[in-house]
Amino acid sequence: MAVKVALHPVAQAYADSHAIDLPDDLPLRSQPHAEDHFQLVVADGLALQPLQLGKVNPLKVDFVAGALAHRRLYGGGVQQDVAKACGLHQLRELHILDTTAGLGRDAFVLAFLGAAVTMVERHPVVHALLQDGIYRATHSEDADLQRILSRMQLQFGSAPELYRTKPLVAQVVYIDPMFPPRTKAAKVKVDMQSFHALVGADDDGSALLAWALASGASRVVVKRPRLAPCLLDQEPSHQLSGKANRFDVYALRKLTAQSTAV
Ligand SMILES: C[S@@+](CC[C@H](N)C(=O)[O-])C[C@H]1O[C@@H](n2cnc3c(N)ncnc32)[C@H](O)[C@@H]1O
Repeated sequence: MAVKVALHPVAQAYADSHAIDLPDDLPLRSQPHAEDHFQLVVADGLALQPLQLGKVNPLKVDFVAGALAHRRLYGGGVQQDVAKACGLHQLRELHILDTTAGLGRDAFVLAFLGAAVTMVERHPVVHALLQDGIYRATHSEDADLQRILSRMQLQFGSAPELYRTKPLVAQVVYIDPMFPPRTKAAKVKVDMQSFHALVGADDDGSALLAWALASGASRVVVKRPRLAPCLLDQEPSHQLSGKANRFDVYALRKLTAQSTAV
């Protein structure tokens, strides 16, 4: 069943004035129809309001306040698994290609820790939310936040397509495909239910890994549910396991310092 996203006229005007790309085919309506699953609205920025999931907060990207700001101020530094998996505990001057940008949380942590991060996202609504999060952060008055954002760049599409005709600059390719639906015992967090309902499962994670392993990158990192099989059934060089997730690290070549200008 296709996910139906309605667009509120105020959100359309907001997107136009903030140079945010929206898909052309979103129905414009002040009042959503019964069959709509989501509506793009403006609530301190562009936000996606779920309409069929009960009382759930709208989905938006917020680098200025909320969980990511908290993680920036009080989070775990380069000893976090995601940072160690990418090699940031050994070398800060890394360029990482995040092939599955989503809401930009992992990318933000990596950029905060010093990496240049090129993000790629193929879902047009997720891409629009991320574009807006970047816009609001770069226009905030927080100079530190602006410095982090200056190391982040967003592209729309899919890495294998985008890099068909241009060379890969990044040394590390990061892959975090949407997990398959979880069992009741391991239910996704409430705030992520709407994200799952919007995007669905990414069934082509193995193809993305195959591309990444052949891309010339020095290292490929895949985030997986802790107990899930490896993508492509290919054993990594090593793994870092946390409570819910695991990072499979394919160390292909030695990492060397690289410019973090994006
Ligand atoms: C699990 S989420 C990533 C979450 C992200 N790591 C974060 O920290 O917010 C997966 C995202 O990757 C996107 N995606 C999956 N495969 C992709 C591909 N081949 N190219 C571009 N985007 C992809 C999905 O649309 C989805 O938004």
